[in-house]
Amino acid sequence: MANVNVLITEYEISKRCRELGEQISQDYKGKTVHLICVLTGAIYFACELSKYISVPVVFDCISASSYGNKKTSSGVVNVLDMLKNDIKGKDVLIVEDIIDTGNTIKKLEEILNEKKPRSIKVCTMLDKPESRKVNVKADYVAFNLPDKFVVGYGLDNTDGTCRNLPYIGYIE
Ligand code: IMP
Ligand code: MG
Repeated sequence: MANVNVLITEYEISKRCRELGEQISQDYKGKTVHLICVLTGAIYFACELSKYISVPVVFDCISASSYGNKKTSSGVVNVLDMLKNDIKGKDVLIVEDIIDTGNTIKKLEEILNEKKPRSIKVCTMLDKPESRKVNVKADYVAFNLPDKFVVGYGLDNTDGTCRNLPYIGYIE
């Protein structure tokens, strides 16, 4: 296993999920959150976050991949629409692991907007604002990061490992 240096601990992630969950619950008062978890990377974050949302949540998933096996974005985003619920007229919250170039979230917003939801917001575990190539912005950000390749808590290394690490770290 690669030597991973801890950047953000499990406790810190959980604490931010509680804070964001409470904020989201305030913002969506009287509404149902149609949470769309972006597979595979966002799965750990979306599960943890959703536990702290006190308004009704419909938990759904969509799959997106752009990285292939490299550390830099290929720019081509593959989306597999596996939504089980109709989002027409609903309040959608896309939950992502990390926003890097912004290509993935832009493509997802385009695809989901075609389904005519009432609103779309984005919540991301990590944001690397310095790496942006397209103009997208998250409504909720757990942590900002410098332009550094990180793994854990859903994020994989170039060989597909490390998603199961209970913390976020970088490789030496
Ligand atoms: P974007 O399309 O460039 O914004 O990249 C978003 C996707 O690239 C994320 O959903 C991740 O799957 C992947 N990604 C970006 N940065 C990292 C990283 O530091 N570690 C692991 N995956 C990353
Ligand atoms: Mg991802």
